Amino acid sequence: MPCLSQCHWGIEKITVKPKLKSYQGITALVTGASSGIGRIFSKRIAALGAKVAIVARNGEALDELAREITEAGGEALVLPCDVSVLAEVQNACEKALARFGHIDLLYNNAGYGRHRRFLDWDIEDQERMMRINYFGMMYFTKLLLPQMVARKKGWLVFTSSVAGKLATPDESAYVATKFATTGLAEVLSLEVEDDNVHVLNVCPGSIKTPFFDEEALRRMPPVAKKTMGDPDVLVDKIIAALAKGKHEITYPGGISLGYIVRAIAPNFMRRQVKRVTLDAME
Ligand SMILES: NC(=O)c1ccc[n+]([C@@H]2O[C@H](COP(=O)([O-])OP(=O)(O)OC[C@H]3O[C@@H](n4cnc5c(N)ncnc54)[C@H](OP(=O)(O)O)[C@@H]3O)[C@@H](O)[C@H]2O)c1
Repeated sequence: MPCLSQCHWGIEKITVKPKLKSYQGITALVTGASSGIGRIFSKRIAALGAKVAIVARNGEALDELAREITEAGGEALVLPCDVSVLAEVQNACEKALARFGHIDLLYNNAGYGRHRRFLDWDIEDQERMMRINYFGMMYFTKLLLPQMVARKKGWLVFTSSVAGKLATPDESAYVATKFATTGLAEVLSLEVEDDNVHVLNVCPGSIKTPFFDEEALRRMPPVAKKTMGDPDVLVDKIIAALAKGKHEITYPGGISLGYIVRAIAPNFMRRQVKRVTLDAME
């Protein structure tokens, strides 16, 4: 009869969680760096000593961010790129590796939202959202993870969403991209942990960034508008979570109670979600 110590249960391996406590000498690549969460995160870690490759489509906005980083004494590499186009992602990764030698931290953050009933949402637009919000993250991870595994050092950060944990009406394609992101982050956190690559999945609720256009703000339930989070605080929480070696964070934190309610009282949760969100769509 096999005993526990002879079986490969994985539990006999004790790994140290790589906690990111200092950014001195760290090289990073951040997608969606031209605006919102990615811009604030890039600037913050550059000020803490990281060299940052900044990725988005808007080259002028990236140049402006690079100027701010450089003026503050940091180092930035501008990489204009559409994350949904594999050839552009390959080119960005090659340039980042040529300049920095390796990438320690990949922050997959680029993405956008849209509110539409599934019945009114055409296939091409749903495909486009999946290519940008999910495939873009998968492409960068596929290209940069091997060198992290080879070096036995790395951090992968994903911006998923509360919409990657809880479904709401009017957001089917977006919710699907974010559930896919949560799934990828969770699987990778298991697969590459023993190679000292740490994975953090970030699940923001509603955060005050240019993510919300006027139409989205108009449709947002009043309760959600009142409790919108501050992107600077979210970035504080991401940096704190990396320092503690956490695998997932939700901000504002109270929303994560919803995960528990859904698990123990799914029908109650369904009624609440329907009531709040469908009212806001009318
Ligand atoms: N704000 C929220 O309430 C909230 C909540 C949950 C999750 N999130 C997620 O947080 C992430 C960042 O959003 P944010 O709030 O910071 O919004 P944001 O200010 O609109 O920033 C989005 C970023 O994504 C980039 N991006 C979009 N499409 C791209 C593409 N095809 N290729 C390259 N870059 C692209 C944009 O740059 P360019 O336009 O220059 O390409 C921009 O830098 C997104 O993944 C979003 O889904 C946001």
